[in-house]
This record gives sequence, structure tokens and C-alpha cells, in this order.
Amino acid sequence: MDNEEENIGNIKQQLANLFDASIRETFPNEPVTEPLVVASSTRHGDYQCNNAMGIFPKIRGKYVEYQNVASVGQAILRNLPESEMIESSSIGGPGFVNVVLSNNWIAENIKKMLVDGIETWAPRLHVRKAVVDFSSPNIAKEMHVGHLRSTVIGDCIARMLEFSNVEVLRRNHVGDWGTQFGMLIENLFDKIPSVEDFNETAIGDLQAFYKESKQRFDEDLAFKARAQQAVVRLQGGEPKYRQVWMQICDISRKEFDKVYNRLGVELEEKGESFYNPYIPRVIEALTNQGLVEENKGARVIWIEGFSTPLIVVKKDGGYNYASTDLAALWYRLNEEQADWIIYVTDVGQQEHFDKVFSAAKRASWLSADNSAYPKASHVGFGLVLGEDGKRFRTRSSEVVRLVDLLDEAKSRMLKESKVTQTNRATYGGMLWTDEELEQISELVGYAAIKYADLKSNRLTNYTFSFQQMLNTKIVLFCLLQFTSRVTLLYVHARICTMIDKSEQNIQELKKTGSIVLDHAKERALGLHLLRFSEAVEESCSNLMPHTLCDYLFNLSEYFRNFYDNCKQRIEERTLTMNRRSRRRQIEEADNNEFQFVISLG
Ligand code: ARG
Repeated sequence: MDNEEENIGNIKQQLANLFDASIRETFPNEPVTEPLVVASSTRHGDYQCNNAMGIFPKIRGKYVEYQNVASVGQAILRNLPESEMIESSSIGGPGFVNVVLSNNWIAENIKKMLVDGIETWAPRLHVRKAVVDFSSPNIAKEMHVGHLRSTVIGDCIARMLEFSNVEVLRRNHVGDWGTQFGMLIENLFDKIPSVEDFNETAIGDLQAFYKESKQRFDEDLAFKARAQQAVVRLQGGEPKYRQVWMQICDISRKEFDKVYNRLGVELEEKGESFYNPYIPRVIEALTNQGLVEENKGARVIWIEGFSTPLIVVKKDGGYNYASTDLAALWYRLNEEQADWIIYVTDVGQQEHFDKVFSAAKRASWLSADNSAYPKASHVGFGLVLGEDGKRFRTRSSEVVRLVDLLDEAKSRMLKESKVTQTNRATYGGMLWTDEELEQISELVGYAAIKYADLKSNRLTNYTFSFQQMLNTKIVLFCLLQFTSRVTLLYVHARICTMIDKSEQNIQELKKTGSIVLDHAKERALGLHLLRFSEAVEESCSNLMPHTLCDYLFNLSEYFRNFYDNCKQRIEERTLTMNRRSRRRQIEEADNNEFQFVISLG
């Protein structure tokens, strides 16, 4: 918000500024028109300005010199300010202005990227602080694949925003305050009457304990009544009840943390219970604004476009998921002073969030204009399906536990790595120790799960297939879009060779060397590198991680094209390597591959 400074890395934005100047100059007496610049990558140009088509109908008949779209395009082109970025420009189609970027300018900017560091190309978003509410499993229940999607997508969004210098509060909005605690606590009291005896081992498998409590709740009326009473006593703050509740939460928390550690995801818990004390005053404020009405004994907020209202106080006077979300939103905006609140859940919760956000707009907490801040966004994702096309379940129709899934990814990858190990041995590659094999299986196994989730549009359902995501060849193919013949290890080793054979200190070279893009494929790779900032910006603005995955996918493709076409020239400049240094490079390439894979998630 305070960051109005220009984004140096965004080529599209820089060209838009030039076209903006040209349009103003061409039509000084017309209302301001937003410049429309898109990347084009055709043989006519690298970028295209499409404004003539929109402007012409608005000025038709007003100026003698503009009789058609093309004449408008010509004028915009004529008035384009001089810039070192642009090599040439021309008119294409009905009146597009095509721009070819200057090779020198591309080369100089790649050098800047290299010397100043990729961080200096982070997009400048107009956001200061964001809350990303993700993962958010429910206490005493097992984390399932839906929570995996939320965790992976949420973490990726948080990382992209952090890279873009936004302060991110990574919030785990765990379900720790529902009515389920009544039955859990009562069942526990029956089993272990003395509070002092409660501990992890006494409770045993929390998931099984949850099931057993639920069964009693559904079948035994007297137990149900006691459980309902227990909720009231817990929420009223009775020490014995709170103590047990905290213990149950602790056990779950430890299990969740194991998953987060394995996935390398950081989260800060502020569960539903945290917002409970804020609910009464938030509802009171909304009531004072005239938003809350009586409806069939409950208190509700009506939202335009929905046939049912948002219930904020239940008939029995209790609060619910919506009351908690309203209080949490209020807290995030007022206490945490966030500009952008992002919620990552399955698309099934879309209506809930639409209603909560609309209520917040009616209360003027959020900007009415969706593109202005403060704003809230729901990042929905599709279902996880099994290979049979149905909801992903175990053979006995249970939800798939996340830990089992990670274990399987790891063990399958370990098997694959051992096969690779045998192959390496035959061509004299360095052998991995057992510890390294273990590490490789975890890194690649978990990264493959993350990548499979991130690479397609999050809104679509996604089919979970170990076979596809963990087959080494396919993993490499998906990640790098190289044929199995050419892997990133190979490419990276080649890059190391080039650097090695240049016989120059790479740090020195960064400062003193110059970049010359004299082959079309080399230029294409260079231009794609410079589009990095645009890709991150688009991915952040639309909250769509697959945009960044596409960018990386294409980057590897541009590199492959460049390498295949310029191999000879590169090799001419290099000498034959000795075997030792080749081995070392393979080692380095291994590490780098994992960093690449991991940094995506
Ligand atoms: N606990 C919920 C679930 O498992 C997700 C919570 C999402 N966040 C929120 N603020 N409602 O579906």
C-alpha cells in the first residue's frame, strides 16, 4: 500500500508506461485509457499493445485523421517515446503495435539479475501484510488429503508473497472449539476418572478414541446429554474441563507438527478457540450497525443473492463456524492490521466465505471494490480423487491418512533410488550412503507430492496417483519437461562444465563478463528469464501456483532448446573434463535438483 514504487523487473509494466505516455500524447482530449500490453512471443514481436481496437469505436467520426483502427495503431506507434528497451516496433493485424525488445537491453538486464541477485526482481505488490489461513485441520481428527492440498497450496502462496516482500502471517486456524469436545471429554472421564492419570498413552490412538466417542454420542442418549453439558462447562472455563481439552489439543498438535516437519512447512497456530472471546463484541458491533436480524429464533445476517442467511448466533445462543470466522476476520484486520486475508480450503466452503466476506463488506470492514484493499480472498481447490475417479479413500473406504501417504511416497522413492544407485554403479558414478538414500527418498518423494498438487489449476479435481508422481522418469519429466534421456542432472553438469572450462572465477565473471545473445534460442531463453518477475506477480495476484509452475516448466524447455541448438558452440569453448571433476559436478547437480524441487513447495 505504501509501496507505490515501480517494479523494475516487470517488462510488461515498463512497456505499459511507455504506451501510456504515447496514448496520452496521441489523445490529449480523450478520457484516460489503461494501456493494454501482453506478451506475444511471435516472430513479429515479444510484446503487443492492443489499445487501438478499444479506442477507435470511442473516437469514431471525431477526428479526420483516424478513419480506421490501423490509423489509431499507427499514431500510438509514432508517439511511443524513445527507449533503450525497444529494438523495433511495427503494426500488425488490424492495429496491434508489436514491440521487439533490444538484445542489448535483454543481455544487460540478465547481467543485472545475475549480479544483484534474483531477489531484486521480486515483484512489488501493493500489499504490506497478508494473513494466509491454511492447512487448518481439526483437533482429534486425522489430517487427510484435503488438508494436504490446503497445506501445500497455502505454503506455496505464503512463499510467493514472502519472496515479494509481503509480511505474511501463516495461520493455522485449527478446529479446536467445536461441540465434538463434549463427547471426547465425557468419554475420557468415563475411561480414566482421575485427571492426574491423563496422558498420551492413556488416551492411545486419538483417531480411534474419536470414533468410539462419536459412536457413544450417536447411540446413547444419556451420554449425549452429558456430552452437551460438558461443552457448556468447557466453554464456561471450568478448570478440569479446560485441562483435559488442552491435553487433547496437545496430542493432536504433536501429530500435526510431524507432518509439517516432514513437508518443511511453517505455521503459527491461532485456532478457533483463540477468537472465542472476541465473538460477543464483534456480533454486538454488527448488531449496532443494523446488520444482525432475528430469524426463526437465531440471529442472522442476510446477504444479497443467497436464499439462506449467515447464522451468527444459533437458536440455543451458541456460536458457530461463521461467528468464529467473523471474529477472526475482525481480529486480522484490526489487531493484526493485515491488508489481505487469504483462506485456503476446498471449494465446498466457497459459499461460507462468500457470505462472510459479503457481511464484512456490508459492515465496511473490507473494501467494496474487489481490486482494492483491505480485501479477503478464498483460495478454493478441487477434490482429491483416486485412480478410479471417485473420492480418494483407502480400500476399506476410510479417508486416507496423510502420514500413511507420506510414508508410502518415501518408501516408493527409496525403492526407485536403489535402482538408480545400481545404474550409477555401472557407469562409475559416486555411490550414495544409506543416510543419503534416505534423504533423497524423503526430498524427492515429498516434493513429487507437492509438485503434482501445484502443477495444475487448483480449482480442478486432482487424481492422486503414486505411480505417476513417483516414477523417477515421470517425476523428472514433469518437473523439467526433459525426456528421460536428458535430466536436469545432466543439464546442470553441462552448465558446471561450461563454467569450469571458461577457467574464470565465476564471481569475477559476474562482474566483468558481458552477456551476448547472438543466437535466437539463447535470446529466447534470456527473454524468458526476464519474464520471471511477471510470472511471480501473476501467480501472486491470481493466487494460482500453477502459473509459476508453468513458467518453470517452460524455462526448462527454453533451456533444452538453447542447449540442443548451441551445444556445438558451447563444446567448442570447453575442453575435455577429467573424470574426478565430472563426479564432483554430478554430486553438485544432485543437490541442486533437490533445491529446485523443494523450492517450489
Ligand atoms: N478446519 C476447517 C476444515 O478442516 C478449515 C478452516 C479454514 N479456515 C477458516 N478460517 N475457516 O475444513
